[in-house]
Amino acid sequence: MAKRGDPIEEKVYEIYGEVVGSGKPVRSPSLAVRLLEERYKLVVSETVVSIVYAAFMNGRPVLFEGPPGTGKTEIGEALLELWAGKKPFILPCSETYDEYKVVGDFHPVMAMRKGFNEESFIPRPLLAALILDTGVLVDEIRRSSEEFQNMLLDVIDKRRIVVPELRRVFRARGTGFQMIFTSNPEDIAQNELSDAFLRRVVRVRFDYPPKSVEERILKLRVDGEPQLSDGVRGLILEAVRRLRESGVAHKPGTAEAVAWARLAQSIARLRGKSRVGVEELAEAAMSVLAKRPEDEEVVSEVLREVLGVEVL
Ligand SMILES: Nc1ncnc2c1ncn2[C@@H]1O[C@H](COP(=O)(O)OP(=O)(O)OP(=O)(O)O)[C@@H](O)[C@H]1O
Ligand SMILES: [Mg+2]
Repeated sequence: MAKRGDPIEEKVYEIYGEVVGSGKPVRSPSLAVRLLEERYKLVVSETVVSIVYAAFMNGRPVLFEGPPGTGKTEIGEALLELWAGKKPFILPCSETYDEYKVVGDFHPVMAMRKGFNEESFIPRPLLAALILDTGVLVDEIRRSSEEFQNMLLDVIDKRRIVVPELRRVFRARGTGFQMIFTSNPEDIAQNELSDAFLRRVVRVRFDYPPKSVEERILKLRVDGEPQLSDGVRGLILEAVRRLRESGVAHKPGTAEAVAWARLAQSIARLRGKSRVGVEELAEAAMSVLAKRPEDEEVVSEVLREVLGVEVL
């Protein structure tokens, strides 16, 4: 609950309280693994959950690093929610992100009239997360500036946020306030992470899942009618595996395997079919898998080999 009479806390509860909600934290890794699958349709190993939870117990932020479409963002968001029992805040990073956008800002007109005080202050997500005792997912951390990264580390290290204009220090009260960063080191046009940053985070490496896991994910995510047969599912798995090994610039992640299956399923549904066939797979393929013109040739070659039909 908000401290009665504290205008900042009251504002935070009023603006963000309802969206964040409040439930029971899940602190058992094995239960978390089960809920990730049942509630979020996410397949995550108990090892990953345990290392994330252990990092949180040590007050350390976690860095999820790996190729696109391997579940970093969704898994990060779900784990923060399970840990805190409340929805996390998501900060999608960009070069221009600074503390005014994440800690708080002053309403310009009100600040002119009444000064830089609690009345004109607008709390933003990072401060709200600390006050509401919930997690923060800092998405694509490499797109942010080094100053911004250092500011975040300082906040998580000391578990407090200072707002000099208000002459106030806000302190975390529980263990729900935790951070997960995501990053894709192969992404172009982005910054390196500093040694100081890397020293303080617990890094979890993400990669394309083994075939059996990716198969489970497809079954979990693409169910219902029209059905995907084991054979059709096998073609999807094989095609994405080969494309990852080929020299394409845009490698398909698990996200693309799922997107491809769903698009093919929808085409089959539009046609009133009861099963997804190779025709639908072939029709949906290029739109999902060839995202860059220079990849088109290799993608259609791989698809021709795997699906056994001409794909344009
Ligand atoms: N372990 C998994 N369990 C279930 N679905 C998964 C898993 N990994 C990937 N997916 C699929 O990928 C999608 C999530 O991808 P997400 O956006 O979280 O990946 P990402 O690694 O953050 O990618 P990017 O680097 O592009 O941001 C899910 O909606 C799902 O379809
Ligand atoms: Mg992501």
